[in-house]
Amino acid sequence: MMPEHSAGARSVATNQEGPYKNLEQVVRKHASTRFLRPIAAHTRVSFSAADNFVTEFYKKSGTGDSPRTVVLDSGCGTGESTLHIAKRYPNVPVIGIDKSAVRLCKAGNRRQLESATGNEEIPDNVFWVRAELLDFWNLALDEVRRGRWRIPYHALYYPNPWPKGNAATRRFHLHPIFPTLLALGDTIELRTNWEIYAREFTQAAGILKGNAFCEPFSPSEPETAFERKYKEARQQLWRVLVKK
Ligand SMILES: C[S@@+](CC[C@H](N)C(=O)[O-])C[C@H]1O[C@@H](n2cnc3c(N)ncnc32)[C@H](O)[C@@H]1O
Repeated sequence: MMPEHSAGARSVATNQEGPYKNLEQVVRKHASTRFLRPIAAHTRVSFSAADNFVTEFYKKSGTGDSPRTVVLDSGCGTGESTLHIAKRYPNVPVIGIDKSAVRLCKAGNRRQLESATGNEEIPDNVFWVRAELLDFWNLALDEVRRGRWRIPYHALYYPNPWPKGNAATRRFHLHPIFPTLLALGDTIELRTNWEIYAREFTQAAGILKGNAFCEPFSPSEPETAFERKYKEARQQLWRVLVKK
């Protein structure tokens, strides 16, 4: 397996000079199918824990009717972004998802809480879960289609570049999971330090939905560990917004 990123805050090393040349063909090939593979038992357990959190959250607030609004922070890493997003959506459960136990162990540490919330408590609307994103998204789409969940905002901050051209089809937008990802939420915000990835994601989303744009992005305060590293290394960041 190749690493997702070059080490540290070096800029992305790639042998690609521009967007993947067969992008449109690959995206259209996946457009009419749903990526379904057997879901690992541990992801079902994680998903069920997230779903219970959502149910309990709305029970406590006395507004338990479906569809329940849920925000996703996919590839949340150490979970800092989940706290920032939770502040923007104070009445909505925000689920931070990552496959790395090592990164998730740092979620909700004191430094994060002080800088993101100014408080020592993890906000009531935050839940972190360890899971494989592709499987989690498939289970989440089932809930959306059943009318149980509605996802107004889905954050994808700095995941998944796979910069070598021969690994391009592992990128989310060139993978058969892409139609599921697009169908999940109303707005997707992707952030990346790799312009080609941002442009490809925008183009692929445009092919399927028509309403995507990308722009250079300069956060005033970094909201994630990687965002901080890239900003300190003075790398240009990119943001893609895809709206239903
Ligand atoms: C470069 S890190 C960014 C982490 C965090 N968003 C940040 O900005 O600090 C990418 C994260 O995405 C997670 N990730 C990538 N692909 C994933 C997948 N298929 N399932 C679960 N997590 C994934 C990795 O474990 C990693 O923590």
